[in-house]
Amino acid sequence: PYPYFAEMREKAPLFWIERLQAHAVSRYEDATYILKNPALFSSVDIRIAGKLPKDRSSLELGSVSNLLSSDPPIHTRLRGLVSRAFVPKRISEMEPRVRELSKGLVAEMTAQGEFDLMDGLGTPLPVTIIAEMLGVEPSRRRDFKLWSDSLIEAGSEIIRDGKASEKNIRLGQEMLAYMTEIAEKRRREPRSDLISMLVQGGEGAEPLTPKEVNSFAILLLAAGNETTTNLIGNSLVSLIRNPEAYEWLRRDPSIAACAAVCEETLRYDSPVLGLTRRTTQEVELSGGKVPADSTLVVLVASANHDARKFPNPERFDPQRDTTGLLSFGHGIHFCLGAPLSRLEAPVALQELTARAPRLGFAQRQPERIDYGMSFFLRGPRSLWLR
Ligand code: HEM
Repeated sequence: PYPYFAEMREKAPLFWIERLQAHAVSRYEDATYILKNPALFSSVDIRIAGKLPKDRSSLELGSVSNLLSSDPPIHTRLRGLVSRAFVPKRISEMEPRVRELSKGLVAEMTAQGEFDLMDGLGTPLPVTIIAEMLGVEPSRRRDFKLWSDSLIEAGSEIIRDGKASEKNIRLGQEMLAYMTEIAEKRRREPRSDLISMLVQGGEGAEPLTPKEVNSFAILLLAAGNETTTNLIGNSLVSLIRNPEAYEWLRRDPSIAACAAVCEETLRYDSPVLGLTRRTTQEVELSGGKVPADSTLVVLVASANHDARKFPNPERFDPQRDTTGLLSFGHGIHFCLGAPLSRLEAPVALQELTARAPRLGFAQRQPERIDYGMSFFLRGPRSLWLR
């Protein structure tokens, strides 16, 4: 799907992106080398288009670090505190709820002959599950969706205009106020939700401060929403464009086959295109030297198409071995939510296939799918199917 990345891998494995003021790497070997070495390639204070997160952020979270933008030892401590909530066993217990929700959304969505998959299933499924995990009250679920959308929009505005719009700053502040309120309620009267777990600590873990809880809740929303949404959208696009694979799934719509389609979609059309790091000293990569304190964009989507790692990479083949794909990152920052996405996306696909086994693009589908304009994420804005 990305001919431009193929050209970069061959001709310019180290490529200067003027607009982001960053060096991009596109080969598998360089990508894994960088992600495996947090001492050489830091996640702290990364400049995008010359700007630091402090200048870019419009929300007053002070200097609280979150997982994604910290290095050891801070990262090690934070990851230890929150990882209990995402262990595979805890996630697999959520299967019945994910299935019930998917079934309901699919039934409602397919009641019309033509429908927007993103609006009907791709977006509401992950956002509802995260809201439920966090313990957001049902009366605030609508607001939660609004906050989550505004967070993503603010991210694009910051890259485009240097700052978020007034509207999105206001929505962000509203969300912070609400999360602080819940954190305080749960500290006094714990329940079985994620926020209660974080503010209480326990099992050898210390409690998170209210600011840390806020920062983590925002991270979950940002990291866990559009990504799984994109995976659901991209898997349908891949299936419809590859009839052989779609036929294979129809013959055996087991959860294992649905999971295989999702894994191959992660490789073939990664929901996350690139990750960022800052060099802590001068380093040597394919294509040359990079000075200390430079921004690197690790194009994981491109690395997943490197024929040195995945033979015949442009073929969409759910039966291939996808071990080593970089769509969830690699090393200490490996996606915390991977088990959750690997539950949600296959269940959603299975429920959809059971109800509507032969989907095609609807006439309302524009000639070219609109993938939006984010530099870092890729998935359809809307996907009209029939
Ligand atoms: C980290 C991708 C879903 C939470 C990451 C990273 C990637 C990624 C590439 C590494 C970032 C880096 O190294 O700089 C994805 C994809 C998803 C997905 C492709 C869906 C298909 C989720 C979900 C959640 C989540 C559902 C939570 C509910 C996180 C968190 C981190 C993370 C908290 C930071 C981990 C750390 O820094 O230690 N994700 N993600 N992600 N993801 Fe995901």
